[in-house]
Amino acid sequence: MAEDKKVLYSAMQATGALHIGNYYGALKNWINLCDEYECYYAVADLHALTVRQDPAELRKKARNVLMMFIAAGLDPEKNCIYFQSHVSAHAELTWILNCFTYMGELSRMTQFKDKSAKHADNINSGLFTYPVLMASDILLYQTSVVPVGEDQRQHLELTRDIAERFNSIYGDVFTIPEAYFGKAAARVMSLADPSRKMSKSDENPNGCIYVLDDKDTIIRKFKRAITDSETQVVYSDTKPGIMNLIDIYRAATGKSVEEIEKEFDGKGYGEFKLAVGETVADAMAPIRNRYAELSADKAYVDGIIKTNAERAAYKASKTLRKVQKKVGLPERIR
Ligand code: TRP
Repeated sequence: MAEDKKVLYSAMQATGALHIGNYYGALKNWINLCDEYECYYAVADLHALTVRQDPAELRKKARNVLMMFIAAGLDPEKNCIYFQSHVSAHAELTWILNCFTYMGELSRMTQFKDKSAKHADNINSGLFTYPVLMASDILLYQTSVVPVGEDQRQHLELTRDIAERFNSIYGDVFTIPEAYFGKAAARVMSLADPSRKMSKSDENPNGCIYVLDDKDTIIRKFKRAITDSETQVVYSDTKPGIMNLIDIYRAATGKSVEEIEKEFDGKGYGEFKLAVGETVADAMAPIRNRYAELSADKAYVDGIIKTNAERAAYKASKTLRKVQKKVGLPERIR
């Protein structure tokens, strides 16, 4: 990885099975970014601890997400793909930055408010300081750009505020990160309720298409996608179901809305849904195959986990040492 490029950083929670919203909304758009940026992609396993996890499950889910990064096309030689928990600097910087973040700022985070409503029996301090850990992830690598979804925008703003606050006291320690807007990433909605984002916690199992679903399952779910009672494939706010399918088809084929409307002019929803289903299934097939290969090759994946964690740790430790020195922690004796 060339060190003279700007740094791009992103992470995904260790939630296990990834769906096509994660793929078309994030992963797929990350694949070529390493030509322009020095890229870091973490599996945010420490963040996952803010809600109760089964230990064996979490371990498995975290590894699955990491393998999925590679299966989806991120080259682990050109991108640093690693587990957040393997680089202890994340936790160490979080402590320091906690001391530069105000209770008021954290209480205003909408994700905290949502999550504490949802997990009322476990409103732990980790849930509260979640954005500080995220800030540490980003700031440790002197990150310039962060591709994040709408739901993480507020956390990125807070990261900038913390970094600016720290820099104003101690000088230019952190690069101030910006949101990365690449080619418009697709915002994929639930197939069962197109007013909501696709999510693995959709009550209706047909609403969510997993990258590892087989061809028949993918086609069946698309066939059942909720649409309206009309028949014309046109992109319109009044037809959120069809809009979502067009967006997915666009992301999968690179075709424009106009081309798609023309392609299905006079053809009806049934034919359109089948075409979207087949296209997505064909796009997922090679990822599924690569994933199966990786699952069978423990030594190869372990090797990537080890070398990339070392690479990340090296970079992160430089920033951490600088911060420790600035705030006045005693120098290490070598
Ligand atoms: N909080 C992010 C999410 O839930 C995941 C994440 C953790 C992240 N650390 C990050 C994203 C750093 C971007 C940069 O989606």
